[in-house]
Amino acid sequence: MGGRAARHAAHAEAASVTAVQSLATVSTERLRGRRPVAEDRADYVRIWTDPRVPTDAHLRTAEDAVRTLDETLAHWERWGFGPWTVLERGDEAVIGRVGPAHTRVTGRPEVEVAWFLDADVWGRGYATELAHEAVRAAFDDLQLDSVVSYTTPANAASQAVMRRLGFTFEAAIEHAGLPHVLFRLTAPAARG
Ligand SMILES: CC(C)(COP(=O)(O)OP(=O)(O)OC[C@H]1O[C@@H](n2cnc3c(N)ncnc32)[C@H](O)[C@@H]1OP(=O)(O)O)[C@@H](O)C(=O)NCCC(=O)NCCS
Repeated sequence: MGGRAARHAAHAEAASVTAVQSLATVSTERLRGRRPVAEDRADYVRIWTDPRVPTDAHLRTAEDAVRTLDETLAHWERWGFGPWTVLERGDEAVIGRVGPAHTRVTGRPEVEVAWFLDADVWGRGYATELAHEAVRAAFDDLQLDSVVSYTTPANAASQAVMRRLGFTFEAAIEHAGLPHVLFRLTAPAARG
């Protein structure tokens, strides 16, 4: 490799290391997000299987929670970013999972901003607060042109979070065998 190419590669690697370091933790006024660890398993299972979550119980079993954590750990390992484990500042209790993740929507690669919080803390604006950071990271650090979010038509709370963040409805789709609504947010720099 020539000097210029080698310098370019070294620069790209350094930039990627910086991005990974800067994305591993995130803080807001009331919350902290950190890279997930295997020890988050019990919190994932507790939050996923809570009977107050309106989604059918058979779609959010303990096995689903563990698989989601395993996939989230693998996502971080591969990409250097992913959904954070969310803690409340102060008592540092784990209250959920929020952040950007690679996904496929109707066969196309996309990055979604995902959120799932402990029912004890719903309605305080927490999902919106940390998802703001996920959007910022997606546009500023990952340099994406747009991100998506999707949920079932009945999930009004999730759609309210999307709208508050500025996402707009794009299409009715099928995802995981169920009807979903797909929303998109375009980066300021990519808007025409
Ligand atoms: C969706 C979820 C992450 C929202 O978290 P949250 O911290 O309560 O969200 P916020 O407080 O930031 O915002 C909630 C919004 O939904 C609204 N909302 C809450 N419950 C609602 C309901 N049953 N019907 C309609 N709107 C509702 C709130 O009024 C608020 O909207 P507003 O800001 O316009 O007033 C949380 O409810 C959750 O984890 N649900 C279970 C998992 C889930 O459904 N995840 C999304 C899968 S796509």
